[in-house]
Parts: sequence; structure tokens; C-alpha cells
Amino acid sequence: MTIGILKCTKENLVAMVPQVVSKLIKSGYSILIETNAGENSGYSNKLYLEADAKIVSRNDILISSDIILTGVGIEAEDIHKIKEDTLLIGKFNAKVASKMLTNLKYSEAKVFSLDLLPRSSIAQSMDVLSSLASLSGYKSVIVGANEFSGYLPMMTTSAGTIPPAKILILGAGVAGLQAIATAKRLGAVVNAFDVRSSVKEEVESLGAKFIEVADSVDDKSAGGYAVKQSEDYIHKQKELIHETAIKADIIIATANIPGSKAPVLIENKTVKEMKPGSVIVDIATASGGNCELSKDNDNVMINDVAIIGDSILYNKMGKQASLLYSNNIHNFLKYILKDGIENIPYNSDIVSNVLLQKELITVIN
Ligand code: NAI
Repeated sequence: MTIGILKCTKENLVAMVPQVVSKLIKSGYSILIETNAGENSGYSNKLYLEADAKIVSRNDILISSDIILTGVGIEAEDIHKIKEDTLLIGKFNAKVASKMLTNLKYSEAKVFSLDLLPRSSIAQSMDVLSSLASLSGYKSVIVGANEFSGYLPMMTTSAGTIPPAKILILGAGVAGLQAIATAKRLGAVVNAFDVRSSVKEEVESLGAKFIEVADSVDDKSAGGYAVKQSEDYIHKQKELIHETAIKADIIIATANIPGSKAPVLIENKTVKEMKPGSVIVDIATASGGNCELSKDNDNVMINDVAIIGDSILYNKMGKQASLLYSNNIHNFLKYILKDGIENIPYNSDIVSNVLLQKELITVIN
């Protein structure tokens, strides 16, 4: 069986790092990799040659692989070249309608979008969103600390004591919890907020204070994700966040609702009342952002408050992001292959979620 790895043109991510390539080759697979596929994430062609992969053109991969691996997106002209029944695996942002998704759904390939994995224990080792969110959460604090002009920990010197920085984390999912852990390790005083009250214990176990608004709505059928809240809740939440935000030195905003616009938690008026020199790092900007004034992949300065909008901060850690992404994909391959042969459990929760062509599940049954 031949596995082809395409160069990811939009992010510093390669779907298979040389270590994982070696493992697959030892298990009997042939690996083709597009020229320079790993160059933006720190993996040279030489490393792939040493792992016994063959370096070929994009076209060769598209027309001759049984399984194609990629990152975030794929062009229409590529999709048309893929032969029937090829397994195409990537993360295609499949909760948001796009022309690419329509092309993928009607393609001859069987397309698996790993951003649709259910949040279950069995899927955990394949969970690309968790891997990347964790890196982004870590990096958000590093980026915020770098922009902030002060110390994060309390500093006692012979010239006096400097109090620790106050960091507010909005959203305590995978990225938010990693941000809390990072901010605590750096010595800041951390407050965190999430609509899911079930996360309170995790926040507190990391040493942060959980800011709570009464009467939040949790929906078990949402698979662990947040759901939209009542108008009354949203109003109370805004007031409480406003009060905490104006005292913060750094705000890390990570709140998201899958498939919907991100909740706006920091309004214009809050930014205007924040302390000069404070920083907002908004990593929810791909879905609109948690701060009214943030812009995706752009930095703005309002009243001496720096607002950094970056929804793909893991891109700054391409080497490790690719390693985790590869391990996730490798685990998914082990799930859908047996002894080098396709063995897709179509009825499983995992496959029925990630396979774009749902009709295949009923046809095959
Ligand atoms: P996400 O990226 O969709 O959202 C980030 C956070 O924002 C979530 O904690 C969400 O509750 C919060 N949020 C949404 N609206 C908000 C609002 N108005 N105000 C404040 N916060 C708001 O979520 P993520 O990080 O992908 O994970 C969601 C859940 O899935 C978590 O419970 C996580 O622990 C769980 N999970 C389970 C896994 C597994 O069992 N395999 C793997 C990864 C995550």
C-alpha cells in the first residue's frame, strides 16, 4: 500500500514526520512525500530520504497513492486528480461550509476530516484539534508575555517588590487549560472563565481562580462542547468579565462554540478601560474572535492596549505541531487499516463522524 504526503501550503505543518515515516515503512508501507513538504516545519528532504521515503512531485502523489495525507486544505485541481477510492485524510475545517468541502464531498476519494473526531476516550490519541489547541494555548501566553512590558512573577529586589502580573483566561477548554498551566508556571496570578461550570475543578487544580456566573446551560448532547447561553446569562457574564478584564495585564481569549461564531466577551468599552500597556491575545479570531476589536492574523493597538489576533499560533511551533499531528494521523491509520489492508469500521462513532461521504456508510452496510 502506498501512502503519499502532500506539502501543506497554508500552514507550517507536515502530515508525517520522518520518525513516523520510518515506522510505517518498517510495517510494509511505501511512502511518497512531496518535495520540500517538511521544509517549513523543520524536516528536510534529507531526513525523509534517510527514513527511506521517496521524494516525488505533487502530481505523482495525487495520481498514484492509495492513501493521501495532508494538513488544512486542498485545491480543487488536486482533488480532481485523485483516483477513485483513495483514502484522503486531513483536517478540512469541516464544520464550516466552503467550496473546498463541497468539492471533497463529491470527489472520488473517501475523505476523512479529523477535525470532526468525537471527543471520546478512544478518539483521544487521534485528536488533532486537541494537539494543536494545546500548542496554541501554550504559545498564547508566551506571545502575551513577550508583548507585555512587565514581569510575570512577583519580584522582590533590594529596590522594592513588583507584584505579579494578572492574567485572565477566557475559555478553559484544551487551549485555555494549557494557557492557565503556562501562566501559572511563569508566576502570574490567573483568573479563568468558562461557561461550562464542569470545568471549574480543572481550573482550580491548576491553581487559577474560576470566575463563575450562575445559571449557565450545559448540554450533555453537545459532546463536551459549550452551547449558546440565555440573554440574561450573557448580560451577567459580560459585566463580570468587564470587571475582571479592566484589572488584568494580559487576557488570553480562547472561547469557541464549534460551528458557530465565537462569543464576543470583550467589548469595545472594556478595551477602552483596560490599563495602558496591557495585552489581549485572541486565538478565537478564525471564528470572529472573543474581542470586538481583534482581527484575525493581525495586531492592533487601541488606547495603548495591544490586541494580537492569531488563530493558528501552533504555526509558530511547526516542528512539534507536525510531530503531534503525525502521531494523531498514525493512530487513525492504525484504526482504519489492518495488516496493510483497508479495514474501515464504518459503523464506529469515529468513522461515522469523520467520513465526509456519509452515504458510504449506508451503502456499505
Ligand atoms: P473549544 O475550542 O470549542 O472551546 C474552548 C472553550 O471555550 C470551551 O471550554 C468552551 O466551553 C468555552 N466557551 C464557549 N463559549 C464560551 C463563553 N461564552 N464564555 C466562556 N467560555 C466559553 O473546546 P475544546 O477546547 O476543543 O474542548 C471542548 C471540550 O472537549 C472540553 O471539555 C475538553 O475537555 C473536551 N475534550 C475531550 C477530549 C476527549 O475526551 N477525547 C479531547 C479534547 C477535548
